[in-house]
Amino acid sequence: MLIGEAPGRDEDLQGKPFVGRAGQLLDKMLAAIGLDEKAVHITNVVYWRPPGNRTPTPEEVQVCQPFLERQIELVRPDVLLFLGGAAAKQLLGVADGIMRLRGKWRSYSCGGREIRALATLHPAYLLRTPAAKRQAWQDLLMVQEGLAQQ
Ligand code: URA
Repeated sequence: MLIGEAPGRDEDLQGKPFVGRAGQLLDKMLAAIGLDEKAVHITNVVYWRPPGNRTPTPEEVQVCQPFLERQIELVRPDVLLFLGGAAAKQLLGVADGIMRLRGKWRSYSCGGREIRALATLHPAYLLRTPAAKRQAWQDLLMVQEGLAQQ
């Protein structure tokens, strides 16, 4: 299960997460570790498009949190992948930046289960900073390995 930040314009129009440019890169990243759309469940920390593509406010994130927690409980994922700082900070309950959070296995408690969770760089950031793809690739390989151990 993958969790991003919030829908952008394309996502808002289609009513689906990660269908724009960042989503196309995400599809390629998943394909590189042998995953396709059917193998993953993708959602966001905030369910609507923040006007003008601004960062979601803490209030917006807070309002969506119970729904997101329930969504994770219902999906019962083998592995959680947080895409970017917004998801990682909110779900891990920490204030560290994504560069500190990424690339280390964490645990997310949900409905009496512990789920292996990993934070990585947001695909929109990777579009702006291609040199960071190397780190994202390391994280993806960890996901692949984590899934193989299930
Ligand atoms: N960025 C996100 O964080 N989520 C989307 O659904 C699309 C872009």
